[in-house]
Formats: sequence, C-alpha cells, structure tokens
Amino acid sequence: MSGLVFLLALGLASAQEICLSVQDDPYLFFGTKTAYIFANKDNPSTRVHEVPGCQPIAFWLLNRHGTHNPEANEMPELQRLADLKRNILTNYKNGNFRDTNQRICQSDLNLLERWEWNERINLTFAGDLTVDGYMTTQQLGQAWKQRFPGLLTPNQHNYLFKFVNDQRSSNAFKAFTEGLFGSDADSLDIPKENDEKLLRPYKFCPAWTKEVEENNDTVSQLAIFESKREYQEMISNISLRLGFNYDVQKEVIQRIYQMCRYNKAWDVVKVSPWCAAFTREDLKRLEYAEDLETYYKYGYGSPLNKDIGCTLVKDMMNFFEKHSADVDTPQQPRALIHFSSAAMLLLTLTALGAHQDIVPLTGDNYHSTNVQARKWTTSTMMPFNANIAAVLYKCTQNGKFQVNEPYQVLFLENERPMYLDKCRVGLCDWSLVKHRYQELANKCDLQFCNSATKLNSFTAISFAAIAYIFRYITMRI
Ligand SMILES: *[C@@H]1O[C@H](CO)[C@@H](O)[C@H](O)[C@H]1NC(C)=O
Ligand SMILES: *[C@@H]1O[C@H](CO)[C@@H](O)[C@H](O)[C@H]1NC(C)=O
Ligand SMILES: *[C@@H]1O[C@H](CO)[C@@H](O)[C@H](O)[C@H]1NC(C)=O
Repeated sequence: MSGLVFLLALGLASAQEICLSVQDDPYLFFGTKTAYIFANKDNPSTRVHEVPGCQPIAFWLLNRHGTHNPEANEMPELQRLADLKRNILTNYKNGNFRDTNQRICQSDLNLLERWEWNERINLTFAGDLTVDGYMTTQQLGQAWKQRFPGLLTPNQHNYLFKFVNDQRSSNAFKAFTEGLFGSDADSLDIPKENDEKLLRPYKFCPAWTKEVEENNDTVSQLAIFESKREYQEMISNISLRLGFNYDVQKEVIQRIYQMCRYNKAWDVVKVSPWCAAFTREDLKRLEYAEDLETYYKYGYGSPLNKDIGCTLVKDMMNFFEKHSADVDTPQQPRALIHFSSAAMLLLTLTALGAHQDIVPLTGDNYHSTNVQARKWTTSTMMPFNANIAAVLYKCTQNGKFQVNEPYQVLFLENERPMYLDKCRVGLCDWSLVKHRYQELANKCDLQFCNSATKLNSFTAISFAAIAYIFRYITMRI
C-alpha cells in the first residue's frame, strides 16, 4: 500500500516537471548560430556533379566561417550566467514556483548544476574558430574537390582566395586549403588577396551605416514582435520554468539562448543544460526574432541592402564574363574562393534575389501562413559554414538534355541547388544570369555610400509596400 502511494506520488511529481534538455526530436534551428549539420540534415552527396553535355569551367564560392568562440563583447555577459545558475538552483531548493506545472525538471537542474564556464575560453581567444569549426571547413574543402575533380585540381595557380586578414579568416583559409590540397597546403604558395572593400563593403559605407545599421527603424519590427503577447508570454513561461517570481528581462533570456546555441554548435552531440530553458515553441519565436532583425538589417526590409550586397555579385559576374569569352587559352584563376561574414552572405543573397518573400516579414504577423512558411529563414540560410557557390558550365548542344545555350550557371547554397526564378534546379542560362545581374554589377560603385541620402525609414517601408503591391499585380497578370 505505502509502495503504491509512493509510486503515485512519484508519478504526480514527474508529471509536474518538464524535461527539455533531452528530447527525441529536438528543435535545432538556431538562426545564425545553427550548426551546419543541423541546417543541412541529410549530408549532400559528394559524388561528381554532372550536368549532361556540359563541362564545369569556372568555380566561384563564398563561405561563412565555421563555429567560433563568443566575441569579446559577448564574453562577460555569458560568463555571468554562472550567477543566474546559482539563482535558479536556489529557486528550486526554495520551492519558488508560481506554477509547479511549468517548472524545470530535476535532471535538467542537475545538468545545469554541473555547468561552468570553460576557463580556456577567455578574451585572448574571443571570436576564434573552434576545433569543430576548423574541421567542418576542412571537410567542405574536400567535398568541393570531390564534386568538381576536373576543375578543382591540385595546381594551386588555378585558385585565388580572397579574405580579410584576421585570425578567423586566416584559419578558415588554412582549413579549407588543407581539405583541398591535403598536407601539402602549408608548403604551397597559394594565390590570395585581402580586399576588404569587396568582402565587407558595409564597413566603408556611411550612408548604409546611418540609414540601416544605426537607424532605429531597422529594428522597429523586431521591437513590435518583442512587445507582442506571443513574445511576452514566452518570457513569462521561461521565467516560471526557472522558478522566478517575476518575468526576467528579455536580455537575460537572450543570453541563455546565446549560450544554448553556441553549445549546440560547438558540440552537436552534447546536451546543453541552457537549452532546457526552452520549449520548441519558444525556440521558434526566438528564431523568428532573429529573422526579423536580419531581414531589415541585411535583407529585403531595407532597399540599400541590395545596393551594398552587389560587390560580390559583381565579382562573380566579372569572373564568369572572363571565362565565357570564347578564347582558346584557359583563363586563370579557375576557382575564386572567398571567406566573409554572415552579414555579407545575407547581403549577397539579397542582391541575388534569393529567399524573397512576397509579403514582408513584420512584427505582428507571426502566426500568419506567410510567416510560418517564410523563405527568409536564417537557420537554413546562414548556419555556421554557410556557403554560396556558382559554377559556370560550357555545354555542347545535347538532344537528351535541355540546355538552350552554350553557357550555363549552376547556383548552390549550402551545397544544394538554390531556388531561383526561371532556372532549373539551380541551373540558369548564362543570358538570364546576365539579364538579371549585369546592371546591378555595372552600377556597383558604392557612390551612394558617401552621398547624403534622403532616404528615410518611411521610404524604406513604402518601398517594401510598393514592391509587394507590384509583385501582387504582376502575379495576377
Ligand atoms: C587566456 O588563457 C591563456 C592560457 O590558457 C593565457 O595565456 C592568457 O593570458 C589568458 N588571457 C586572458 C585575457 O586572460
Ligand atoms: C534610438 O534608440 C536608442 C535606444 O532606444 C535611443 O537612445 C536613441 O536616442 C534613438 N535614436 C534616435 C535617432 O531616435
Ligand atoms: C505558455 O504556457 C502556457 C501554459 O502551459 C501555454 O498554454 C502557452 O502556449 C505557453 N506560451 C508559449 C508562448 O509557449
């Protein structure tokens, strides 16, 4: 009898607690801090990439770096999670729960109790590539070589690498070239250059800084979302779960989220005790908050983003222009490989017109079908090691395969075909590519950066609205 009572009591106790750190089907989309393997679940094939009747003749690639340590400005805040941890343990010990149906479970709490800041991650190593980040970059170098063996040959003079001179980029270059050339990489004199204006034009563009980066309107939709019930309720639920008698500040929630997603990116199989603070629904909201932020900061939400994202599109167009000019001697380099930031990759995708939603993302349409099925999803677009590739093919007219033109361009994102209008599984006619991007490339002089623009948020919003109406009308026609 007493045994039965005990069992019943146990059953009740465990029913009241939710364990979130270990789940059968965890939600692993963490915006710009998603591990590559989570964003790209079934590993893309590394078989030789064949387009019947065509030979790849030029390879263009833009990479984001792999997982890295927290930046110097994040580190002190993340270290302070140790204090928060103590508070949560105290809450639990004191039975400090407004609603026991929602409290963190004992085993999650035990995990949290054992958490401590890794002392080896200090300011000296802020922002550095992690071991995992290095290995993933190496593997990508190898994978590309396997896919395009005739093009990505061991001759280093076929390559040109472009990256800025910092620790993270230099290590990414080292890792990637080890993947391409094996252990010889170090001893080869591989052509490389540092062109910061190409790779980070936004650092040299006062107009963009003023109108977009530092403009409060850029985050106004995010602020709306954060003020909404769906976000506030999330904060309440998380606060309840951690045993606080009040709603903790959103900055604290964001810090926990940051630690959770760094943990899951540094070691994809390890459980992060900080992820136990979040339900699947919470994670989706935090993900949308970052989508909103990046949509206005680097995406279609501000018209200047396309203009500043043009530099790498121009770089690609010039490269392919050279290789598609019918000359007898093959041109060098045949592979142009860049390393840059998530910001620059997003700006480039915007300039390319990829992941464009018909309805703009806003702070008050979270539950709408459009948002739930949105194309602008940073988790899958911009995980660590995100990449955008374009491969120029030279084709012979072939009855079996429908290529209309002698030159074709294959666009890939994160090693998979990029969805682009009027292309076939990422494969576009060269004339279409020129039609679509040549003007943007030709006009890409960044003159606007230093002229006082009269654009303001109002025009930015109307721009989005006009674009929307226009799309709507043209779709109807
Ligand atoms: C970081 O740790 C290393 C040793 O692990 C040490 O040499 C270095 O001085 C530390 N840096 C700071 C800023 O504390
Ligand atoms: C932008 O927002 C910040 C913080 O809310 C505020 O301090 C600043 O004055 C605002 N700037 C403008 C130009 O409104
Ligand atoms: C918050 O918790 C309540 C009660 O469990 C639940 O009904 C609601 O959906 C939760 N809200 C969010 C945003 O997860």
